[in-house]
Amino acid sequence: MIAIIGGTGRLGLGLARRLSRTQTPVLIGSRDENRARTAAAEAGLGAGQGRTNVDAARSADLVILAVPNEGHEPTLRALAPHLGGKVLLDTTVHYDRTTRSVVLPGGISAAERAQQLVPQARVVSGFHTVSAAMLADLERPARGDVLFCGDDAGAKEPVAAMVRSIDMRPVDAGALATSRLLEQLAGLLIDLNRRYKKKDLTIQIAGLE
Ligand SMILES: NC(=O)c1ccc[n+]([C@@H]2O[C@H](COP(=O)([O-])OP(=O)(O)OC[C@H]3O[C@@H](n4cnc5c(N)ncnc54)[C@H](OP(=O)(O)O)[C@@H]3O)[C@@H](O)[C@H]2O)c1
Repeated sequence: MIAIIGGTGRLGLGLARRLSRTQTPVLIGSRDENRARTAAAEAGLGAGQGRTNVDAARSADLVILAVPNEGHEPTLRALAPHLGGKVLLDTTVHYDRTTRSVVLPGGISAAERAQQLVPQARVVSGFHTVSAAMLADLERPARGDVLFCGDDAGAKEPVAAMVRSIDMRPVDAGALATSRLLEQLAGLLIDLNRRYKKKDLTIQIAGLE
């Protein structure tokens, strides 16, 4: 079972829409159960697949964290008791709109911070360079690669399988500390989208086929 924490938002809902077309059981999490139920129906799931974040995390083996940076630490602290031994896929980018730059407090990535906060979880970091707008548009095939990283090889497997299930290509970028680069790459894409007046530019690694 996959839980999408913050599944009512842009990235989470886009991902839920893609996953709803597969056979993967998925739950949408929110701070508010009614919002989750509405979002689940909107994503093509049953309203009953909308839960509070805690309920969703409790029932899942793969927990996808898709909340804005300001919610990162409080959400992880609230979910921590339910994440023991589970794969936590962190998508967080700490982007500062004022300085138009990605912030790495203390020099570490959001995903490394997640692993510090919840040492009992198996943290994988990814999806930073995937556009929520692209995911949400089911009329078009998914584009781009899903770069991900982590220190637990076994934890990467369900993430890669989930990525393949939505017809995207998983690309293992290495250790969890590589998330510093992946989060910075998201900042680059935000800048490129602005400069070229696009909303869903993405990253694809050439030559891997
Ligand atoms: N948007 C993209 O294209 C994209 C791409 C790659 C990575 N990301 C990353 O993915 C994460 C989510 O991005 P997003 O654009 O989907 O965000 P978003 O739409 O602004 O928010 C996602 C959800 O998070 C919950 N939330 C909002 N503030 C919160 C808080 N203070 N504490 C806890 N939960 C809160 C809300 O759900 P409820 O109110 O229902 O709880 C909201 O629907 C971010 O870290 C972002 O950097 C985004």
